[in-house]
Amino acid sequence: MKRCLWCKQKAVIYMREHRLALCKDCYPKWFLRMTERTIKEWRMIEPSDKVLVAVSGGKDSLGLWFALTQLGYEADGLYLDLGISPGGYSERSKEFAMQLSERIQRPLHIVKVADEMGKPVPDLAFASNREPCSACGAVKRYLFNKFAVENGYTVIATGHNLDDEAATLLGNVLRWQIGYLARQAPVLPERVLGVGGEQGRLVKRIKPFVRFTEKQVALFTILNRIPYIEQECPFAVGAASLFYKDLLNKIEERSPGTKWAFYSQFVEQIQPLLDEKFPEPELRPCTRCGMPTTAEVCSVCRIKERANKLVAEVKS
Ligand code: AMP
Ligand code: FES
Ligand code: ZN
Repeated sequence: MKRCLWCKQKAVIYMREHRLALCKDCYPKWFLRMTERTIKEWRMIEPSDKVLVAVSGGKDSLGLWFALTQLGYEADGLYLDLGISPGGYSERSKEFAMQLSERIQRPLHIVKVADEMGKPVPDLAFASNREPCSACGAVKRYLFNKFAVENGYTVIATGHNLDDEAATLLGNVLRWQIGYLARQAPVLPERVLGVGGEQGRLVKRIKPFVRFTEKQVALFTILNRIPYIEQECPFAVGAASLFYKDLLNKIEERSPGTKWAFYSQFVEQIQPLLDEKFPEPELRPCTRCGMPTTAEVCSVCRIKERANKLVAEVKS
C-alpha cells in the first residue's frame, strides 16, 4: 500500500496522472486547493458575484456546493424537481440536496419543472424529437438561467467533471459539431442582449470541477460524509455519453493523463480559435417567452409546444 506523499499516513488514493498518493486527511485539502486554483485560473468567480450552484443531489454538485462554501464562497443552491418518479428518483435526490443545505446552513431554492413548464421532464422529453437527456438538458439550462436572472445571481456553477466534459468533447468531435465545440469551455461568459429587457441575459456559467475525474470527486464527497443519490437518472441508461466515458477510461488506463490532455489542450488551443471563427449568432428574445435565443422561438418553447400538441392529439 502506498503512503501519503504529504504526511506518510496510509494513502487512500493514488493519482497516476499526478504521480501523487494522498491519505484521507490530506486528499480533501489537495482537492480544495485544486478547486480554488481552477476558479482563480479561469476567473470563474469575482468578489462581487452572487453564486448559484445547480444542485442535483448527485456526488458532483453536492461536492461542489460543499467545496465552494469551505473555500468561503457564499453560494446558494438551486434544485430542479424534474418529476422523474421511477425509483423515487426526484424525491430522493431532493432529500439529499436538502440535507446538505441544512448542514452548511445555506439556502436551497426548489423549483418544480412541472410548475414552470406545465409538464414534468418525462412528458416533455417524450414529446420532443430529441433524446430524453438532451431535451432535459435544454430545459435545465433554461430554468437555471431564468431563476438566476429573476433572483439576481451573476454566476451559475454546475458540477460537471472531467469525465463529463471529455465525453461531451469526444461526442462532439466524432460528429464535428462545430457549433457545440466552439462553445465548450469551463467558463461561458455572461451574454447580454440589446433588446428584451431583464430576461435578455445569459448568466455566466462555470464548471469548477473540470480538473477532476468522477472518481476523484466521489472520494472528496465520501470523505466529507456527504450522502448523495447513487442511482443514475433512469433515462440515462444506454446514453452515448456513458459509452464514451467507458472508452475514455480504457484509454486512460493504458495511458494515464490522456483524458486531461485531450480536454485541456482542446480548451486552451482549439476552442478559442473556433469561437473566433464561428461566433454565436446574435441573441434575440424568444417570441414566445422573451428568453434569449438564436432562433425565433427558443428550443424550450418548441419542446413545450410539441408536448401540448401531443396531449391535444391524444385527447381528441
Ligand atoms: P447532468 O446533466 O445530470 O450530468 O448534470 C450536470 C450538472 O447539472 C450537475 O452537476 C448539476 O450541477 C446540474 N444539475 C443536473 N440536474 C439538476 C437538477 N435536477 N437540479 C439542479 N441542478 C442539476
Ligand atoms: Fe434529465 Fe436524465 S433525462 S436527468
Ligand atoms: Zn421561449
